[in-house]
Amino acid sequence: MNHINIRVPATSANLGPGFDSVGMALNQYVTLQCEPAEDWSFILQKKDQPFIPNDRTNLIYKSALFTANQYAIEHLPPHQVTMTNEVPIARGLGSSSTAVVGGIELANQILNLQLTEREKLRIACDIEGHPDNVAPAIYGGITVSSYDGTNLESVRFSKGLDSLTWVAVIPDYHVETEEARSILPTEFSYKDAVHASGMANVLVAALAEQDWALVGRMMKEDKWHQPYRSHLIPDFPHVSSVLEEHGSLGYYISGAGPTMIGLFEGVSESYLQKLKKQLPSYQVEILQADTSGVAATNTAAMNQ
Ligand code: HSE
Repeated sequence: MNHINIRVPATSANLGPGFDSVGMALNQYVTLQCEPAEDWSFILQKKDQPFIPNDRTNLIYKSALFTANQYAIEHLPPHQVTMTNEVPIARGLGSSSTAVVGGIELANQILNLQLTEREKLRIACDIEGHPDNVAPAIYGGITVSSYDGTNLESVRFSKGLDSLTWVAVIPDYHVETEEARSILPTEFSYKDAVHASGMANVLVAALAEQDWALVGRMMKEDKWHQPYRSHLIPDFPHVSSVLEEHGSLGYYISGAGPTMIGLFEGVSESYLQKLKKQLPSYQVEILQADTSGVAATNTAAMNQ
């Protein structure tokens, strides 16, 4: 029987001022083991069952079908998909992007579409609306992208990421992206937009130069979304001060939140374990960048 395995990394969007544009892939994964079946079904871990549908309403299936439809293919041969998920749901670590990118890759493998990364990215942006999570989930590393519905640009950075540790402080409540977007202003003055984009420009230049201290400073200087969203995270000041005290270069709200991420360079594991003890009511994950992006193996392709 033909088996397809797909692995998609978690992602963290915005990195402070890179709102809807900058994102990075992290080394926590969703793994999909897929095999042909009579009908579509998703076998989920118990912890995910209340949040993820196990039928054709699953975002993985919807994204796979959307992909097939882009190539005028109406029927997607049914599969049973067993999902192993390390990515917390609705916490700002790209769980919906893992489903979108996983679904696109599933259609790619089942239908042998031989999609390029760029083709996958365009489809993913059409589903997700913005490229900041889906681009790093596809490419790995850090990506800086823009998409206006027609023009798509994405630049990837991966140099120097090995020296960095990303400490994710994950609360036990969910924040829905829709809600976290609804509280943002609908307009910005020209002067404020110039100021805010200047911060994002410096962030991107610092990423390109691997000037991690400057990256950390810029993460905190965002004007686009964090001043509005920090109120959705009651412990924002406490978590910020713990990360600061422990020597983070900077910290930011990951995606739409509520997870906060602190950036560290050259810090020992035992030191990070001490930091973890100071935040007992959170799930604290010590993460590294993923530089591979989505990966798939397909026994049909192997046997050809
Ligand atoms: N850039 C998005 C946001 C990421 O911050 O709303 C979540 O989809």
